[in-house]
Amino acid sequence: MPAETTTSPPVPASAAPAEAVAPLIRGVSVLRELTDAGGTLSLSGLERATGLARSTVDRITSTLARMGYVRLDGRDAVATPRLMELGNAYLAALRLPALLSGRADALADELDESVSLAVADRDGIRFIHQATRRRAMSLSFRIGDLLPAERTAPGPLFASEWTDDDWRAWRERRASDPENRAFPAVPPRQLALPQGEFERTAAQAGRNGWALDDQLIEPGLVAVSVPVRDPRTGRIACAANVVSHTSRHTAADLRDTLLPRLRTTVTEMERALAIAPEPDPGPPPSRSAAWIGASKNELGREFIESLARGLTVLTAFGEGRAALTLTDVARATGLTRATARRALITYEHLGLVRQQPESRTFALTPRVLSLG
Ligand code: PHB
Repeated sequence: MPAETTTSPPVPASAAPAEAVAPLIRGVSVLRELTDAGGTLSLSGLERATGLARSTVDRITSTLARMGYVRLDGRDAVATPRLMELGNAYLAALRLPALLSGRADALADELDESVSLAVADRDGIRFIHQATRRRAMSLSFRIGDLLPAERTAPGPLFASEWTDDDWRAWRERRASDPENRAFPAVPPRQLALPQGEFERTAAQAGRNGWALDDQLIEPGLVAVSVPVRDPRTGRIACAANVVSHTSRHTAADLRDTLLPRLRTTVTEMERALAIAPEPDPGPPPSRSAAWIGASKNELGREFIESLARGLTVLTAFGEGRAALTLTDVARATGLTRATARRALITYEHLGLVRQQPESRTFALTPRVLSLG
């Protein structure tokens, strides 16, 4: 670890595998803090939030600025629209937004209510599409926002597929963060759940094929969710949600009046998934090993090559490039296999990439959406 890192990194070094790329871990923590802060944070704010030394924050942000992911505006680092290419790599690889968002939007128009699509992210849910219709809602979520499963309508649906390990992780998180401080998108609140209650809700949601949110996030906000199943595996690919306000619908009323329409849309969505043709692989990443080398020559110390190389690995994924072997990643990025491998090991450690052992391929996880 370089001498300039005087404070402890956000992920304890001891927990990281020996081959993980420390500058990439630090760069990712900067992107995460910037995203959690809504896209703008002062450099000293980043220093406090990440626990990194100022000189490290400066070098990371100048590397990210060179990559077009942040803009340096006086004392602030500001996330740019280009940063969305990381999350978009996940969304394009997933394909669900491209295949389903038209139907979600049409339902929102028909009902004049907000409709969203969410995927499971461990013991939380993350939005992959939002068709926001009633802007009067005090709280509305954006693509990528992470919510605790137990405070949402889709959460119990996803939890109906949880393993014992998933339940254990959920209980640990509830014990260590009862007010959901780790979920900046939701107002902090302690949700009183009698012993076994969420387990029962999840089992019921699994049987019913729908679930309700009766003001779990905040007073007035109600939602009903239905799972959209992957026709090949039968597992839940995402959940479709209709979101309303108690001034228009109670939760029970949502179930009685709007659930049938939502179910019809979900049936159409599942058909769309079943007949979707294999995607054509999209274009390879715009950054290359050559571009990184040239940037290093120009910027010297202020450009962290290992961070740039690592971030380029995320953009190797995309539509038609959802599951890549190490060789695929190296070929797409122009990086050596050894470099690509270390980046993938780092991302696996950070929960941003998952390796499918049967096929020896790697895929992005929904957590990539936490990077902007
Ligand atoms: C939303 O899309 O804003 C939403 C979805 C499900 C919930 C709450 C809010 O339970």
